[in-house]
Amino acid sequence: MELNRRTVIAGAAAAGLAATTLGGTAHAAPGRKPVREHFGTLADGTEVHRWSLENGGTRMKVLSYGGVVQTLQLPDRHGRYANVVAGFDNLADYAADSPYFGALIGRYGNRIDAGRFTLDGKPYQLDVNDGDNSLHGGAKGFDKRVWDVEPFTEGTDVGLRLRYTSADGEMGYPGTLRTRVTYTLTRHGDWRIDYEATTDKATVVNLTSHVYWNLAGEGSGGIEDHELSIAAARYTPTDSGLIPTGELAKVAGTPFDFRRAKPIGRDLRAGDEQLVLAKGYDHNWVLDKGITARPEHVATLRDPHSGRTLKIATDQPGLQFYSGNFLDGTLTGTSGRTYRQGDALCLETQHFPDSPNQPAFPSTVLRPGQTYRTTTIHRFSA
Ligand code: BGC
Repeated sequence: MELNRRTVIAGAAAAGLAATTLGGTAHAAPGRKPVREHFGTLADGTEVHRWSLENGGTRMKVLSYGGVVQTLQLPDRHGRYANVVAGFDNLADYAADSPYFGALIGRYGNRIDAGRFTLDGKPYQLDVNDGDNSLHGGAKGFDKRVWDVEPFTEGTDVGLRLRYTSADGEMGYPGTLRTRVTYTLTRHGDWRIDYEATTDKATVVNLTSHVYWNLAGEGSGGIEDHELSIAAARYTPTDSGLIPTGELAKVAGTPFDFRRAKPIGRDLRAGDEQLVLAKGYDHNWVLDKGITARPEHVATLRDPHSGRTLKIATDQPGLQFYSGNFLDGTLTGTSGRTYRQGDALCLETQHFPDSPNQPAFPSTVLRPGQTYRTTTIHRFSA
């Protein structure tokens, strides 16, 4: 992975000093344990906590509800911090009406056609919550569950282990799925996510993270100036319900070509039929590298104004790029500003949507005795 080390330290930032290249020597005492506070109480009386962690210049707040990354603070090229993820400042808004802000997604990231699939000859009907389809695990997916959270420090790493056990039949999925997700902040300020799951019956699984990025700062306006590159020569076009047609279409000569970095806004209004169906980008890119044993660099997002840059590495075969098309000015975010269309974007590393119904797509089946394991790394610089 050819990723540069971060160049800004918080100490310099606080003192208003110019950015300094310090390589891997972290400014914040590595090993400082995440701190827990009360965040709110759900209608059923369950208490929700918020954890604060910091390492290598990256600061993060995580909720036990949905494993939500509520805030993620990064320095710009002058060392000035901003929260670069969309979210809410209170639990009630997350519980009432969140478009998956910052949440863990399970059991299945993105859509399954008509919420149906057949496995080993047995038909399953999932919870349908998006038109005729099942989206992000159904109406009460992993984003709406309260996770057990355990903080850790290991060497120079700081992190949280989040656990959730999904009962056999929950949202229509077969098998008891024991899930563990680990959020780690490294001494370089990287945010690493390790997903693990086991089952006691054959099932399908596709976990991801639904962080909405705005590297200029949450609530600061649109992401159309952000430059994006994705190492993918193909993507999966969809029907009007945003279910892949099965075709792996070439990006060459289309608005979907992000092989060289370009501003997101450049082709967003190109009149392409696929962009009209989704009201913007809301598609899965078929990563050139395919499934890999280790995370490899697949995408770079950069805000040219602040200099903040996000590099994503994953072992997964797909990347869903969603340009925040359904944000419509009705939700008020963390800093009290409303979110309008395109005010934040998602880059979800995952298997392809609707894989359980697409025999030509890489398999998402998990069987007893196997362990589902995937890793995604977010590297930040400015
Ligand atoms: C999907 C969008 C959906 C959004 C939820 C994305 O992952 O691709 O279609 O609207 O999640 O806010």
